[in-house]
Parts: sequence; C-alpha cells; structure tokens
Amino acid sequence: MMSAKIIDGNAIATELKHTLKQANAQRLTQGLRTPGLAVILIGSDPASQVYVGSKRRSCEQVGFKSESFDLPESTSEQALLALIDKLNHNDEIDGILVQLPLPQHINTENVIEAIAPDKDVDGFHPYNIGRLAQRNPQLRPCTPKGVMTLLTSTGVDLHGQEAVVVGASNIVGRPMALELLLAGCTTTVCHRWTKDLESHVRRADILIVAVGKPNFIPGDWIKQGAIIIDVGINRLENGKLTGDVDFDVAKEKAAWITPVPGGVGPMTVATLLENTFYAAEKLHLG
Ligand code: GUN
Repeated sequence: MMSAKIIDGNAIATELKHTLKQANAQRLTQGLRTPGLAVILIGSDPASQVYVGSKRRSCEQVGFKSESFDLPESTSEQALLALIDKLNHNDEIDGILVQLPLPQHINTENVIEAIAPDKDVDGFHPYNIGRLAQRNPQLRPCTPKGVMTLLTSTGVDLHGQEAVVVGASNIVGRPMALELLLAGCTTTVCHRWTKDLESHVRRADILIVAVGKPNFIPGDWIKQGAIIIDVGINRLENGKLTGDVDFDVAKEKAAWITPVPGGVGPMTVATLLENTFYAAEKLHLG
C-alpha cells in the first residue's frame, strides 16, 4: 500500500506570500498605498501571543503595514469598541483583526459586529458569513479559505465528493461547511451530539477535523484514498505539536494528508494576508 502524499502547507503558504509580495510591489509602482492590517491582542494568552506574532511578522514579510495593539486583560469592552471605531475610519487600514478568545467580561459578538464588514479580514461578521452562505462570498474566514486552497492544490475535482467536517465552531467548522458546499461537495457536519461519528468518518472522501484533541480520529477509520485536513494544533506534555488525527496510521490509508505542524497553520496566516490584499484592492478603492 502506498503512503499518502503530504499537502505541504508551509510551501503553499510561502508561495502565496511571494505572490502577494509581488502584487504589492505592483500596487506601489502604480502609486497606490501599501495594504494595512491592524492586529489587536487583549491579554497575554500564550497561544494567542504566538499566533499574533506570526500574523504581524508575515505582514511585514510581504511588505504590508502592520499596526499592533497590545492591550491589557483589564481593557473594557467600551475601550475596545472605541479603538475599532477609530480603525474603521482610518484610511490607511484595510483590515482589522481582533485575536480570539477575548476575556470573559467582553462580549465577542458585539466586538465582531463593530468591525466594518469591508475591513473584517477574519470574515466573522454576520454580513460576511451571510455572503458566503448565499454563494456570493466577500471576505471569507481565513482557516476554511486556506483549507480550500490546500484542497485545490491536490488537483482533485471536489464536485460531488463526500465531505465530512468534524467540529462545528463559528471560526472553523461552520464556515468550512459553507466553503465545501460552495465547492460542490455533499457536506456533513459532525459535532459533540453526533450519534455515530465513526460511520460518518468512514465514508468521507474529504475529512476536515477541527476538534482540538490529540489523536481524536483513529487512523483505521480513514477511507482508502481520502483527503485528510487536520486543523488541530495540540501541545503535548513533551512540548511537541500534534493534530487531531492519528497521522501515522491515517497516512497509510489516505491519498493526501496535511501534517501538524506545517499544514493548515501557516495557510491560515497567509490567507489573512490574502484577505487584507483583497480588501485594499477590491473594497477600498480611491
Ligand atoms: N483564534 C483562533 N483562530 C482565530 C482566527 O482565525 N482569528 C482570530 N481573530 N482569532 C482566532
């Protein structure tokens, strides 16, 4: 039996960033301004600090402007909303990203809905989710959009494939299902109340797992020849990172599989830059 081909998220993300860097240079020769991204981090969650650091560094790599706001855990909702309002009206800012999760005392919904939909590079605003649901996407959530780029890179025709998404969060599972539906997949979403997860996973031609539990999906559940996208990033006690799928067994059955690290993670960050460029180029004319 042949081992799965690896979907190299690092390489595909690097290529996308290279394309964006060139497209930005092109903009500058036309006398247009450089795209600007505001990244807001509240508090000091270690994982969030790592993600935000990566977003800011990547922004500078491609020559975009990155504005950083590091605010204390005690920041009030009112102060955060005031900052968002100021950035909504700042003509040098094309994208506003508020890293989640937020502290308990801040209402996440209020914050997401305060971001101008044309600067919502996370694609979480109900306007942008609605556009995606109605098959006319504008700004699309980064992780699901990045996963679609990874799936497209395999060259496999997605139309009519049985896609199974495990996990139904607002950030990944739900928008992921909307992307797969838009791409022509027959799409199932599994979640904590799903009765027979194994039976759904076993018939998946395309399996997307976003649960956040190491080795949640046993490798022997994988359908022969499936495409496996592992969105999980779990830190083990020995310090190593691992996904939600039992990679070593799954790779002997799948046709394609993403590694952790080096799969979806880098693609999410590159897609954020893609969204920022899109906002500058298509939504913020003149
Ligand atoms: N926290 C986990 N994933 C994400 C994401 O894609 N965007 C933001 N803003 N916060 C997150």
